[in-house]
Amino acid sequence: MTSFQPAEPGTIDGARAPWWRSAVVYEVYLRSFADGDGDGVGDLAGLRSRLDHLADLGVDAVWITPWYPSPMADGGYDVSDYRDIDPRYGTLADADALLAAAHDRGLRVVVDLVANHTSVEHPWFRAALAAGPGSPERARYFFRDGRDGGESPPNDWISAFGGRAWTRVTEPDGRPGQWYLHLFAPQQPDLDWENPQVQADFDDILRFWFDRGVDGVRVDAAPAMAKEAGLPDAGHGPGAVFDSARWVGNPHWDVDGVHEVLRRWRRLADAHGDRLIVTESVVNGPERLARYVRPDEAHTTFNFDYLHAPWDGPTLRAVVDATLATLEPHGAPATWVFSSHDETRHVTRFGRAETGVALMGTGSTGEPTDLALGLRRARAAVLLTLALPGGVYLYQGEELGLPEVEDLPEEVLQDPTWERSGRTVRGRDGCRVPLPWSGTRPPFGFGPDGSVPWLPQPATWAALTAEAQRADPGSTLSLYRSALHLRRRRAELHEAPLTWVDDLAGRPGVLAFDRGPAFRCLVNLSAEPLPLAGHGRVLLASGPGDGALAPDTAVWLDRG
Ligand code: GLC
Repeated sequence: MTSFQPAEPGTIDGARAPWWRSAVVYEVYLRSFADGDGDGVGDLAGLRSRLDHLADLGVDAVWITPWYPSPMADGGYDVSDYRDIDPRYGTLADADALLAAAHDRGLRVVVDLVANHTSVEHPWFRAALAAGPGSPERARYFFRDGRDGGESPPNDWISAFGGRAWTRVTEPDGRPGQWYLHLFAPQQPDLDWENPQVQADFDDILRFWFDRGVDGVRVDAAPAMAKEAGLPDAGHGPGAVFDSARWVGNPHWDVDGVHEVLRRWRRLADAHGDRLIVTESVVNGPERLARYVRPDEAHTTFNFDYLHAPWDGPTLRAVVDATLATLEPHGAPATWVFSSHDETRHVTRFGRAETGVALMGTGSTGEPTDLALGLRRARAAVLLTLALPGGVYLYQGEELGLPEVEDLPEEVLQDPTWERSGRTVRGRDGCRVPLPWSGTRPPFGFGPDGSVPWLPQPATWAALTAEAQRADPGSTLSLYRSALHLRRRRAELHEAPLTWVDDLAGRPGVLAFDRGPAFRCLVNLSAEPLPLAGHGRVLLASGPGDGALAPDTAVWLDRG
């Protein structure tokens, strides 16, 4: 276990509040972050070699997407061993070295915990297949006989990646047999969380990583981890889409038993000290979401209502208000996020006519995209996000202003969504293209010269490398860095409540709020410039302005 040295004792990591209440967590999509060994896939050595970028950027923690051994049917979210590192990424010794190196730089490390499902190659699932119907091995998962004499799936549940959520197996004697449940890809069978053996095994897995020094876990697909008894039909008609943000009373999503699992893990996390549990919970509205952060459950949860919101002042304000109002009674801080490895990058979204997001990235919509407009808005968005009360999640590459890569050739697409949708939905690969670090040609420092990244990088990214942006004070990287460092220094951004500035209420396209008496954030989402006189001294602006805040620009002001 390694010990943690906070970046700036006495500020966010000081005695005032637990670190996670206002931490900025940077999502590392491991296979696309940095490639240390030149095989085209990001790895732990690569990540370690780039930790200074993250420390310099000014984030407080990294969340690393699954690093476990995996056949990669879903980019590592199909785990075949929860206590090891995939050889493509490194070894357990590399993980220990990474934890130590991150902690030395004041960075905490959160790892992904994929507990709703395993890989079909996990020994538990192999044993279940071999043991046959009625066995304790099968009872770890949801194996059921089919309907219509076994020919039809046991119920009408659907998979997040398209199609039905059941696959029929061939029994050890060679005959077509039972069906197993997978709310995601067929290579990701769901575990039955009512099973005490499943519960006990994951207690051990959590202890294993906490003892090694990880500072928290991000609970993947948390609302999936309980199913209604008897597995009744959900009433999904033909062509139903997996749209969990709209579901109410669904038998396979956001079922109450989920909260028992979280309570169990919270006790375990508390027993290890200052550890974080953050859930990924795409559920129907803030009331349902707030249930995940009751005082004895997760510490925080991702805020998908914010991520899904369009670039529209009244909508964003309503989401902020509803989020704060519903989480506050539980004493839980909000989190704010605009991009992830599952969504179309927001530079691209914000440059389209339809600026909201469809879950699980639809790839190219064929709509014209104004990337200059998208980038201007994304730069404004980061000042908005970093000024809101609570924690923030940044997705790798957003600090470089990377757009979605919408024209990946079909033959390189790897997201299961592509095949599962009958090659109609391209899926999430466009936000997962390996990062450009330096140089003028691919692999742009992602790996050693001559290596070939697992997804091709656009030639135009030469202008967007971290190296190219570092020296440019007007770059997106410089803006993120300045904002993060300012945020760290301004105590009110960690403590003070948000107060809307009501004398601007007549301008619904303007978001104006204070954090304490001396800090103001203004975001202009309207088409008209906003005069800045009387608002205070400009600390940081997302774009140029001359006494006025241009459309799609944000500013932080000091009023002291
Ligand atoms: C979460 C992950 C996503 C993955 C899915 C299944 O939504 O963020 O990438 O495909 O869970 O594990």
